[in-house]
Amino acid sequence: MFVTVFLLLVTLCAWGGNGEERQEAQRPGHVSVVIVGGTGDLAKKYLWQGFFQLYVNQVSSGNTFSFYGGGLSLADSGTPVLFEILKAVSCQNKVSAERCALLKEQFLRLSQYRQLKTLEDYQDLANHIEKQLQEEGMKEAGRLFYLSVPAFAYADIADKINNSCRPTSGAWLRVVLEKPFGHDLRSAQILSSQLAISLKDEEMYRIDHYLGKQVVANILPFRIENKKFLDPIWNKHHIERVEIVLKETLDVRGRIPFYDQYGVIRDVLQNHLTEVMALLTMRLPLKLSSNKEVLQNKLKVFSSILPLGKNQAVIGQYQSYKAEVQQEQNKTKDHNSLTPTYAAVLMHIDEAQYEGVPILLISGKMLDERVGYARILFKNDAFCLANHKAIHCKPKQIIFHFGHGTLQYPAILVSKNLFKPVLLNSEWKEVMEHTDVNVVGLPMSDYYVHTPTEQHDTYTELISHIFAGRSNSFISTENLLASWEIWTPLLSSLATTFPRIYPGGADNGDLLDIRLKGREVSYNSEVVIISPDQVGSTSANNFQVMQGKFRSADMISAWAEELVERLAADIQEAAEASIREGGVFHLALSGGSTPLALFHTLALNHFSFPWRNTHVWMVDERCVPLSELDSNFNTLHDHLLQHVRIPYYNIHPMPVLLNQRLCVEEDGGAQLYEKEISKLVNSSSFHFVLLGVGYDGHTASLFPGSKVTELENSLVALTESPVKPHQRMSLTFSAINRAQKVALLVMGKGKHELITQLSRVKDNPEKWPVTSVKPADGRLVWYLDYDALLG
Ligand SMILES: *[C@@H]1O[C@H](CO)[C@@H](O)[C@H](O)[C@H]1NC(C)=O
Ligand SMILES: *[C@@H]1O[C@H](CO)[C@@H](O)[C@H](O)[C@H]1NC(C)=O
Ligand SMILES: *[C@@H]1O[C@H](CO)[C@@H](O)[C@H](O)[C@H]1NC(C)=O
Repeated sequence: MFVTVFLLLVTLCAWGGNGEERQEAQRPGHVSVVIVGGTGDLAKKYLWQGFFQLYVNQVSSGNTFSFYGGGLSLADSGTPVLFEILKAVSCQNKVSAERCALLKEQFLRLSQYRQLKTLEDYQDLANHIEKQLQEEGMKEAGRLFYLSVPAFAYADIADKINNSCRPTSGAWLRVVLEKPFGHDLRSAQILSSQLAISLKDEEMYRIDHYLGKQVVANILPFRIENKKFLDPIWNKHHIERVEIVLKETLDVRGRIPFYDQYGVIRDVLQNHLTEVMALLTMRLPLKLSSNKEVLQNKLKVFSSILPLGKNQAVIGQYQSYKAEVQQEQNKTKDHNSLTPTYAAVLMHIDEAQYEGVPILLISGKMLDERVGYARILFKNDAFCLANHKAIHCKPKQIIFHFGHGTLQYPAILVSKNLFKPVLLNSEWKEVMEHTDVNVVGLPMSDYYVHTPTEQHDTYTELISHIFAGRSNSFISTENLLASWEIWTPLLSSLATTFPRIYPGGADNGDLLDIRLKGREVSYNSEVVIISPDQVGSTSANNFQVMQGKFRSADMISAWAEELVERLAADIQEAAEASIREGGVFHLALSGGSTPLALFHTLALNHFSFPWRNTHVWMVDERCVPLSELDSNFNTLHDHLLQHVRIPYYNIHPMPVLLNQRLCVEEDGGAQLYEKEISKLVNSSSFHFVLLGVGYDGHTASLFPGSKVTELENSLVALTESPVKPHQRMSLTFSAINRAQKVALLVMGKGKHELITQLSRVKDNPEKWPVTSVKPADGRLVWYLDYDALLG
């Protein structure tokens, strides 16, 4: 029974077919082409030209055509607009002017505008098509709907097509869609399942226009034709790395409302560059014409990509982007966008063949040049003693040059010290005249250069593939979701990362250069930190962390993670400076939950921090035994001290437990601690004091209404907290304000209200104890994360 069902399924699948069989079985007949959004920009610029070319190529094929431009306006106003567009289509050079005029006239006669808004409009269209078929006794070959409309309209239109416009039996239905196909895995799944209600997967043709680029479309054919050269070297033993690069010089002005929601990773890396990556690394199909096998092999690569996280990416944003967002989105001057306009991502494939081979995907706006290419750089173990410019010592590489750049045309280039490639077919030629240009580091004369004899427009190419049912030039649902599965985790992990700001164009200098280190990628140069006022200047500076003023003291602000890293770095810098000067660093730390992330960062970087010469003091302590979870020291011990190599005698917990009792005045714990400070810390001046602020404005354990200023004469005091445990021991302002550096760390949305109030109130120690933090000779810095600062 089981076996029978299985066999039946196999049989059905074979019949249901991958496009291959259908492609062969495609019968000539009448084809109706409908461009929904037929008077829009894309249709005007590319689509009608592409369909005209299709018509010209098919004129003597036995197929007949009608073309419909669909739009929301009435036929009266839509028709003249459509015909203006149609009149502008042009013939290729080799067609004579007379013949061209004739073809254009026929094409215009076969075309008409239709209002396509309601279900009735679609039904009318279907009736019209059927009536025409009947009247002229034509057999129907298929119907092609090109949806050149925003993605949110897809599901609705697909539903209308399914309900009223399916062709007569035996004829095909193809519905073409343009990206964006969602903005993450979940939204792509939702969109796909909505479409699946109305359309079968093989009826959908999702365009990735990169797959229509001649060089991209010929990556697999090139790999197959040159298999005998490539097989031995297409692996981890010979490939140094793979780079897939799309550099643009334009900004995104005018497209901000769209772009700001997507950014370069969703706009370019998730689709175009990922597709190229798959074509370069997938197993070669036995039969290139088998859509099914090509898809399977591609999906295999997707599923072998090692997970991408923050450490596999760097992001940037061109400097004027922020102002463009503020302007086009009608936002205030303090609005920040974290949308990246530049990204470099490092991928690895978890397969024996490519183990450890770095695959870089890079794209950006406002870069120094416009160019797109994929480069396979091979290892070269030759050493040239006398002449390092000898050909065998030069880089060995294959460049799939998609277009633009120094070369200006699409080409496949193979270093002469690799092999002489086989010409793909009669549509390709070898370039013999080498102009004086460099292509990806090598003079043109160092390559064998192949280029298409005739350059095809991408859309014209893709439209001919749609017509031929070549579905592997398009993105299937599985392919789409597999790609989003790779990118979605990275996108979420970058959601709060501040991009590096770059000036744009040639001024970028080496700011966006990256460095690979094992599985990780980082910017090659350190970030220069500048204040927001300087951001407007044209210098090549950039910031990840913003500096400004808060309550007339210095302020540093960033997203939580960067802020904590910056604070940790500042503490380390202070430590190194103090140790250089006096051989020792005295650090006083607060309790509470805010500094936990800081403790973790310090613990992680413990190898480079001079813990051996650091003394750790407590800013305040709760009157509980140190072994209890409530104890500030206990927290500090668990999250930091036990992870670092600090001598025991450099650790100074507060003596809250004396004579078997907690914080009793007569036991003199506060005085003891003060004495220890005076004994060890020069002038009782800590090098660094870390403080937080409570919702009520308290800092250390100095609470509102507790007459904190009366404690001036001592460095340490017992205090009362309004919350349990009530008794505390705390440094006084007298101790805090002697410090050389004081950091006030405030994080989290919950503190935004407090920060807003603090920015307005005058000094008022009774109500807002934190306003008394004023180092006499030292420096106060507020560390506020964006949540606390901006809410
Ligand atoms: C199309 O519509 C019909 C009903 O009109 C429905 O039965 C079918 O499932 C729909 N979807 C597809 C993919 O055919
Ligand atoms: C921008 O916002 C202001 C205030 O909210 C409003 O008055 C104005 O009409 C907006 N302009 C645009 C172009 O949205
Ligand atoms: C101790 O502090 C004083 C100023 O308060 C300073 O002049 C002196 O150099 C310091 N000594 C050491 C060893 O750091």
